[in-house]
Amino acid sequence: MRYFIGNWKMFGIPKSINILKKINSFYSKDKNRRKYRVIITPPYTLLETYSKYFKKKKISIGSQNCYHKDYFSSNTSAVSPYMIREAGATYTLVGHSDNRIEGDTNEMLKNKVDFALRNNLKVVYCIGENKTDKKNKKTFSVLQKQISKVLDKKFNKKNIIVAYEPVWSIGTGKLPTKNELTITTLHIKKVLKGIFKKKSLPVLYGGSVDGNNIEMFREIKEIDGFLIGGASKSSKKFIDIIKNYYR
Ligand code: PGA
Repeated sequence: MRYFIGNWKMFGIPKSINILKKINSFYSKDKNRRKYRVIITPPYTLLETYSKYFKKKKISIGSQNCYHKDYFSSNTSAVSPYMIREAGATYTLVGHSDNRIEGDTNEMLKNKVDFALRNNLKVVYCIGENKTDKKNKKTFSVLQKQISKVLDKKFNKKNIIVAYEPVWSIGTGKLPTKNELTITTLHIKKVLKGIFKKKSLPVLYGGSVDGNNIEMFREIKEIDGFLIGGASKSSKKFIDIIKNYYR
């Protein structure tokens, strides 16, 4: 199974649902549709209406983040996994680098994953080294820590997907080489296997993916899908990625 996840970040108003309707109609008729899943993570403001609309349709709706405490609390602007689930979403991202820099500790991230799973949300746990880590050849150790300090072997591995997003690649057009990406993905899978035993979890790539460079990624069989930012805000660009992946 492959995954194409569109992360809208701070984009979208109620009528932007038209973008998703177009993606959904392509997806519903695509001859390859059984090979992949499409998940879109709009901002919190749209979770409920979009989740309701797509409930019986092909696209799944997810949140971009969740708070590290569950249920209700007196934390201004926070949204708990429970509230996300009640809004109808079925997935949540956790640990996106945009949020890590706001100060999430490993303990907070672990709580986010834990509470999200307890609320029956599937978790897309994001990891990735920054430019300095890469320059200092620390990529493998950084990724190893981001995984092992947050993903607990007691977690339900069936509901966890890992998204590898090198911070230096997000929104920059810069990509890892095919070789770098292959060995890094294998490293991530090995670390995950060490925690969860047997089969590894799906590992996605994210960072400047578009309809042209997807050609390179499709040759890397170890990659189970993509987390797509910029190119997910246009139905055409998003659909082109899927079309070119299966061409
Ligand atoms: P990008 O973003 O595709 O615009 O690089 C990816 C992400 O941040 O998830």
